Amino acid sequence: MAIQNFLFASLLIFSSIESNHGATEVSLFSNLENSLEVTAKPMKDGVVLEAGKDMVRITWMLKSTAKVDGDAAFRTVEVKLCYAPISQVDRPWRKTHNEISKDKSCLHKIVSKPYDKIPQSLNWTIERDISTGTYFVRAYGIGVNGQEVAYGQSTDAEKTTNLFGVEGISGRHTSLDVASICFSVFSFGSLLVFLVKEKRKVKLQQRK
Ligand SMILES: *[C@@H]1O[C@H](CO)[C@@H](O)[C@H](O)[C@H]1NC(C)=O
Repeated sequence: MAIQNFLFASLLIFSSIESNHGATEVSLFSNLENSLEVTAKPMKDGVVLEAGKDMVRITWMLKSTAKVDGDAAFRTVEVKLCYAPISQVDRPWRKTHNEISKDKSCLHKIVSKPYDKIPQSLNWTIERDISTGTYFVRAYGIGVNGQEVAYGQSTDAEKTTNLFGVEGISGRHTSLDVASICFSVFSFGSLLVFLVKEKRKVKLQQRK
């Protein structure tokens, strides 16, 4: 009972720390202006890209429709790789969240650069640790205090257009590793069976 009370008290303290922390610097995605033009074009057409090998050409700039001073608050631009809804199916840990610090769908940072008014581009090789999934690219305009102030993404608001598929190598390695472990267990097993049989044969022959 005492332990339960202790756990409950800790939980209360912890959650109040959490909410205090949140109160000072919550950045809500729904509050951001969509003022960056972002594109992400695979350098191979119509195929699933291979992690560690294939490239995506990423560009970003202030939208022509944005306010004249729409980028006045930008200090840096953070470009991130985001899971599209297709790859979030059955994977609750990839969930999107309106509070940007809790968003698990855009965890992979591609690059963070000082903001420049001229259009930027980057030929990005999909990194080896990217797992199999469907992706788009999002760029955040970050203000002086490090908070997101605007964004742009290579897909539409529903995240259905211009997605690209990636086949991760880690997944493939895992299955290969599992296969080779199974195989070696199997062959070790067969070897044991063979040796035992041979030994028996030898014993039988000695008895004769
Ligand atoms: C990126 O790739 C494109 C197309 O191959 C090429 O024209 C461009 O010069 C490359 N940019 C950089 C920065 O490497």
